[in-house]
Amino acid sequence: MKSQAITGNFQEANVDALAVGIFKDERTNNGALKDLDKLTGGQIASVLKAEEFNGEAGDTAYFVFEPKGKIKASRLLLVGAGERNDFKTADVSILAGTATRSLRKRNIKSFALMPRFEGNDDEIASTAMAGVLTSQFELDKYKTKDRNDKRIDNFVLCVEGAKEKDLKNGLERGEIIGEAMNFTRDLANEPPNVLTPTEMANRAQKMAKEVGLKCEIFDEAKMEKMGMGSLLSVSRGSDQPAKLIVLRYEPKKSTGKKGELLSFVGKGITFDTGGISIKPSEGMDAMKYDMSGGASVLGTMRAIGLLQPTVPVLGVVAAVENMPDGNASRPSDVVTAMNGKTIEILNTDAEGRLILADAVAYAEKQGATRIVDMATLTGAVIIALGDLNTGIMGNDQDLVDDIIECGKEVGENFWQLPLGKEYSKGIKSDIADIKNIGPARKAGTIMGAVFIQEFVKDAKWAHLDIAGTAWADDAKPHRSKGPTAVAIRTLLKLVEKSQ
Ligand code: BES
Ligand code: ZN
Ligand code: ZN
Repeated sequence: MKSQAITGNFQEANVDALAVGIFKDERTNNGALKDLDKLTGGQIASVLKAEEFNGEAGDTAYFVFEPKGKIKASRLLLVGAGERNDFKTADVSILAGTATRSLRKRNIKSFALMPRFEGNDDEIASTAMAGVLTSQFELDKYKTKDRNDKRIDNFVLCVEGAKEKDLKNGLERGEIIGEAMNFTRDLANEPPNVLTPTEMANRAQKMAKEVGLKCEIFDEAKMEKMGMGSLLSVSRGSDQPAKLIVLRYEPKKSTGKKGELLSFVGKGITFDTGGISIKPSEGMDAMKYDMSGGASVLGTMRAIGLLQPTVPVLGVVAAVENMPDGNASRPSDVVTAMNGKTIEILNTDAEGRLILADAVAYAEKQGATRIVDMATLTGAVIIALGDLNTGIMGNDQDLVDDIIECGKEVGENFWQLPLGKEYSKGIKSDIADIKNIGPARKAGTIMGAVFIQEFVKDAKWAHLDIAGTAWADDAKPHRSKGPTAVAIRTLLKLVEKSQ
């Protein structure tokens, strides 16, 4: 897709349509809005006056007008931006996405966006561009007809008075971020017969080559040698061999503190039947998205390879299928993880924590000093927070606070749940060091976290439970339903701030 930055008058834009952000209850009495109103023969003013459209977030109004003067566009879209006082830079992404989806539906191929919002122009441009790209993702990859192939192929961003360099930088970064998110969403949307652990590893390898990351794939024999008995206990019941995907980004010139290594670790269960503790068949199909944490790690690493920050980053994804079979783990089996701890498996459906145990321990062994793991770990987090907040927990309040703050900046919500010794008692086993579930119906999300915590030694660690936020059940004006690529923007912000 082509993109262009305009820092002067919007009438310079050589596009089919103009899209303009309108705040709630705004009137056309000044600036660009006044000019636009003139161009369209007073149509905007009359629509606003009649309250046919009043700038409600997500709302749109569409006009066809006779272009006058040098302007080429003959279509105008008003896009509701909601309350002016609540509007943040990250909301430009929603504005841009809403405009994109609304205009492509009408067969428009090129448009110029005027967000009409003052802030950091570089950030405005990057969030706008990411919004345009992610809004066009659809779930219809496997349809042989009726696919939505309508695309915007030229996006122009108009911010009067901005520095062109800022806008261009932002557009470039936004393109990388948006494409990384769509890469992740494509992975999460893949059916599990296509995206096996082996295929996930192959795609990671191909992506790493494209963006210049180092990539190692460990097979089961290698994991056995490393003592990853916890991870391997999950793949035992599947014909699909597990893969540990390890990606490394090394900056050409490092500005970070010596010895510091940030690491992202993802749960990549390509399908979760529950294993012998099998799930009910109703809704089991949703469990193809149980690799969303891993997919977000891969998308984040893809963007890092292209953005080239000045700090090193390690990405680890445990790609495993959880199936019931004659060789599958049984409730009451005891296994030993890489760090020597013994685990009594009391529920084979609590498999995410079993694979993360070894993946997190591996990351620390590789020198990670800060670890952020991401996992669709518990149904309980959906009960607690719904689809509006990712659950966050950790052993270091500064790291947790940093992630929450980065999330605020990019428009992703995190809500912290507590950890602590008393909670950790919940996973004490009668016969082994720990068990993989806590007391029935009590603090399910926290039990997942305190389990993973047992495999972190000295590193600062945060755990993101994305079970509620990795998949959207409904479409929104700015995006389709389905995989959300949650946490990518937040983690990229964390990397940016670590430089
Ligand atoms: N992948 C699921 C978590 C999940 C469940 C995500 C429902 C989205 C919707 C995970 O592996 C799981 O099954 N967790 C169990 C843990 C329990 C057995 C302690 C759960 O949440 O029920
Ligand atoms: Zn499970
Ligand atoms: Zn699972």
